[in-house]
Amino acid sequence: MAENKIPATLIPGDGIGPEIVEAVVEVCEALGAPFAWDRQLAGLAAVADCGDPLPLPTLESIRQTGLALKGPLTTPVGGGFKSINVTLRKEFELFANLRPARTLIPGGRFDAIDIVLVRENLEGFYAAMEHYMPLDHDPKAIAISTGFNTRAECRRIVEYAFDYAVKNGRKKVTVVHKANILKALTGLFLEEGRKVAKEYEGRVAMNDRIVDACAMQLVLDPWQYDVIVTTNLFGDILSDLIAGLVGGLGMAPGANIGENAAIFEAVHGSAPDIAGKGVANPLAMLLSTELMLRHVGRLDLAQRLGGGIDAMLATGIRTRDIGGTAGTRDLTDALLQQIR
Ligand code: NAI
Ligand code: MG
Repeated sequence: MAENKIPATLIPGDGIGPEIVEAVVEVCEALGAPFAWDRQLAGLAAVADCGDPLPLPTLESIRQTGLALKGPLTTPVGGGFKSINVTLRKEFELFANLRPARTLIPGGRFDAIDIVLVRENLEGFYAAMEHYMPLDHDPKAIAISTGFNTRAECRRIVEYAFDYAVKNGRKKVTVVHKANILKALTGLFLEEGRKVAKEYEGRVAMNDRIVDACAMQLVLDPWQYDVIVTTNLFGDILSDLIAGLVGGLGMAPGANIGENAAIFEAVHGSAPDIAGKGVANPLAMLLSTELMLRHVGRLDLAQRLGGGIDAMLATGIRTRDIGGTAGTRDLTDALLQQIR
């Protein structure tokens, strides 16, 4: 029965999480049920259940499967607990944040976009020591932040990007930095980028861009980009920009990838304003599932799912967030029709 299935942890999450994760479960079933799901709790759902937003059995499950699909988790504002997403990233050393964006609905402001952004997930200003220094009578007169990048991590993330390019038939990797100003912090990144690029010469082309120029070009001429690899903070900003090119959060999938574990999730949050209403767009979660299928080497199923999503959208069906009237159920049924 379950012998050929790939064990994977499934976290329904908070808010709209359970609704959109249910859509994924049904769609995977229609694809021949490639995953053996181990359902676990995290976030508010876990707090309600056992008082811990990230219970040990959930961590243990991910440690064993090395693979998880996660619904969005609500992080209480001000106090409460630490971001579970950041904790998971650290716990499993998920060094690469993968954010592909391709145009699914033609006719928008930007057509035929197909860009993959690879963001370093563990270092930079996200790992910074921050503090204030007093001056005169102002205790916060000076704010100091000391981020760091290690050569080893720079190399690992750039290698990941080039490797991804080779495996996914991509032609070019752009290393994005600010080495003209942050000469050490991002100069090291560029230095390693150039070294790694040499090893892929003839297979994948490489160029580099300063982050501000890159931001402008992404708006003026995004089609020049194929794979972008960049440091943590720049990746955070550019990945949202790129999501905007293809219609926003409802269409943006993501993956956090490490040597021993990978966690797939939509970029959007738990959308408490529409939770339980049956109107959430499940596409970002479904696109994350497509990434997950690719990651485990089931390219056949990834293509079936991706093709099904294209065909489904070609019929004109849309959820409310992208200008339609369809609910989660309608969209899921329309997709099931295409892939069955
Ligand atoms: P959000 O992404 O949940 O919502 C922003 C807006 O987009 C809302 O109007 C929402 O209704 C809409 N929206 C989001 N996803 C949608 C979907 N699939 N279909 C239709 N509409 C959608 O961001 P917000 O409101 O800032 O955060 C809400 C909660 O989610 C917070 O507790 C936040 O910490 C958490 N969050 C969790 C993330 C994760 O677990 N990966 C990521 C981002 C936020
Ligand atoms: Mg962000």
